[in-house]
Amino acid sequence: MIVLGFESSCDETSLAVVGPDGRILANLIASQVDLHARYGGVVPEVASRRHVEALGPMLDEVLAVAGVGWSDLGGIAATRGPGLAGALLVGLMAGKAVAFAHGLPFVGVHHLAAHVWANVAAHPDTPLPFLCLLVSGGHTTLVRVSGPSAMVELGRTQDDAAGEAYDKVGRLLGLGYPGGPRVDRLAREGNPSAFALPRARMDHPLDFSFSGLKTAVRRTVERWELADGPLPVADICASFQEAVVEVLVARTIEAAEAEGLEHVAIAGGVAANRALRARMAEACASRGLVFACPPLDLCTDNAAMVAALGRAWLLEGRRDDFGIAPRTRWPLAEILPLP
Ligand code: KG4
Ligand code: ZN
Repeated sequence: MIVLGFESSCDETSLAVVGPDGRILANLIASQVDLHARYGGVVPEVASRRHVEALGPMLDEVLAVAGVGWSDLGGIAATRGPGLAGALLVGLMAGKAVAFAHGLPFVGVHHLAAHVWANVAAHPDTPLPFLCLLVSGGHTTLVRVSGPSAMVELGRTQDDAAGEAYDKVGRLLGLGYPGGPRVDRLAREGNPSAFALPRARMDHPLDFSFSGLKTAVRRTVERWELADGPLPVADICASFQEAVVEVLVARTIEAAEAEGLEHVAIAGGVAANRALRARMAEACASRGLVFACPPLDLCTDNAAMVAALGRAWLLEGRRDDFGIAPRTRWPLAEILPLP
C-alpha cells in the first residue's frame, strides 16, 4: 500500500509518500523557522496561515518526487494531534479533502506515536518490542513499543520537556529561536564540567524533571551578570547539555534493564542532538544493548513518519471518518484499541 502523509502540527509543513514496502519515496519539509524567529517562538496564527500557503504547491511536488500518481495511492494519513489547533486543522482538512476527492481510506495519526515509528520507517527490520526515548519540544517520555498501536509510557517528565528546556536556555543566553540546535552547536566548544548543575531524581524511577536545571542555569547567568564579566556562553551550554544528556541516557538504560528490552531507540527533535546520539550509543554498547536511531531529518517534524505510521495503522484496519477533529492534547494511552 502506497500512502500519502500530511504533517502540520507545529511550524513545519511536510508531505511525504511511503511505498508499498514501507520505503520512503518522498519527504518534503517546508520549515517556517525563519518566520517565527523574530517573535522568539512559534506564533500559532502565523503558523496556520503559512501551512495554508505552503500545502497546495507541495502536493503536486511530493507526488512528482515520489514518481506516483493519485491512482497509485492506497490511503491518506494526516497528523490529528497533539499540536497547535489551527496548525493541525490545515493538514488534517487537506488530508480529508484529498481522501474524499479520490475515494481513498483515511486515518488521523498520533504525532508522538509517529515520531516513535520513525525508527521503524528508517530501519524496517527493527525488532518488536523495543524501548524508545521520545524527546521533543513538548514531550520527554520513555515508551515500550510492541506495535504500531501498542505503545505504553513507562515514565515521563513531570514539568518541562527536554526540548523546551533547551529552547528556554537558548533564550536566556540570547541565542534566539529555536534554542536547541544552537545550544547543541555551542556546547561542542565549551567545557561540560565548567558549572555544577543539578540532575533531578523523581519518586518514580523512570520520570524526569528539567525545570530545576533551567532555574539553575538562570541563576548562573544572573550571578555572572552581577559580576559584570563576559558570559561564558559555550561553557554554560556544555554544562547544561551534559546534565540533560546524562539524565536522559541513565534513565533510558535503567528502563531497558527493568523492562528486559534489548533494543533501544530515540525519537523527536532532541534526538537530533549529537551528544545524545553518541552517548546513548556508547552506553548501550557497554551493556550489550542494541541502539539505533533515525537519521536527523526523521527526528524533527516530518510527514514521512506520519505516512509510515498511517500506513501501518491502515494495514491494521484503522479508518477514520471525515468528521474527526484535531486533538490538541492526545495522550499515547488514548490511542483507541483496534476496530
Ligand atoms: O519533534 P520536534 O521537531 O517538534 C515537536 O514535536 O516538539 O522537536 C522540536 C524540539 C525543539 O525544542 C528544538 O529546540 C529541539 O527539538 N531540537 C534540539 C536539536 N534539534 C532540535 N534540541 C537539542 N539539540 C538539537 N540538535
Ligand atoms: Zn514533533
